[in-house]
Amino acid sequence: MDRGLPDDYSIETALALACRAPSVHNVQPWRWRICDRSVHLYLDPSRALPSTDPDMRDLVLSCGAVLHHFAVACTSLGFAAVVHRLPNPDEPDHLAAITLVPHRATDQEIALGKAIAKRRTDRRHFSSWPIPPGHLSLFAERAATLGAVVRVVEPEEREHVAAAAREAARLHAADEAYRFELALWSGLHSSPDGIPAHSIPAARAGDELPARVFAGPELTDTAREADHAELLVIATSADDRLSQLRAGEAISAVLLSATTIGLASCLVTEPLEIAAERAKLRMRVLRDTGYPQAFVRVGWAHTSAEPLPPTPRRPLDEVLIPQDAG
Ligand SMILES: Cc1cc2nc3c(=O)[nH]c(=O)nc-3n(C[C@H](O)[C@H](O)[C@H](O)COP(=O)(O)O)c2cc1C
Repeated sequence: MDRGLPDDYSIETALALACRAPSVHNVQPWRWRICDRSVHLYLDPSRALPSTDPDMRDLVLSCGAVLHHFAVACTSLGFAAVVHRLPNPDEPDHLAAITLVPHRATDQEIALGKAIAKRRTDRRHFSSWPIPPGHLSLFAERAATLGAVVRVVEPEEREHVAAAAREAARLHAADEAYRFELALWSGLHSSPDGIPAHSIPAARAGDELPARVFAGPELTDTAREADHAELLVIATSADDRLSQLRAGEAISAVLLSATTIGLASCLVTEPLEIAAERAKLRMRVLRDTGYPQAFVRVGWAHTSAEPLPPTPRRPLDEVLIPQDAG
């Protein structure tokens, strides 16, 4: 880039930070192209999980998260990202064209930028300390600016999410292709992608909301009590690719905002990966007013909980499309 805009080194710094974004099974389904005056985000269908995520919803959500992370990273470097989503109707995997304009970051924006390196998916039980309502409304406000709705799943609605999670887990456990995919992508050691064993606690029977069962758990959860996470639902008014992309951006905004406050978080999407369960949740939780895209557990980690190490990422050159590629 030129004319007072960031040089390639700064863009690559922002991209490396952006790629800390969460993604389903840590598949990192994105590719980036740096052009003279713009940066482009593509969905990489070669990273799809056909048995886990047949509609590629989780894949697009993951790309929305990396897009928002990139915008946050650029802001920390002194540039605002102007995002044109789905710029080419003939190329649906071209998710965003981004131009950058000089911008002085606010304290809040700097805090969000710092949260990128600190955020982790925490699958352990959370403590019973309540989350002040102001924090929860902050998530809703930030998600709304990105075109998504975020709200707390009320106690009487939680049983519907739990029932869907149990049914999705039952169907997945009986699905050999799903189990094969899960074994390929979880319980890993020294892999630049997938979920490392050190991030996975053993499955616990009796949880109100059953967690996804991953392969090879090696994380110790010192919590002795039941999980006290607050459950949020992220929803959109439509269910097309643009809405899913925006939901992914909202997910990123919620997770980073939670991190700035010191809250732990964990996405929950298994109940939405089964079409019939997703349809039920749409009626029973959202009362047909929107499309559920993801749930997020948020809460305070137990004081005895060890800090989680970061999950690995692929080297940047693996996700950069070379400048001379057609
Ligand atoms: C769209 C999406 C769906 C996800 N679904 C789940 C899930 O159902 N259960 C879970 O434990 N983690 C889920 N995750 C979290 C990822 O496994 C996690 O982001 C990834 O392993 C990278 O780890 P990190 O978030 O700690 O950097 C999901 C993440 C995304 C973006």
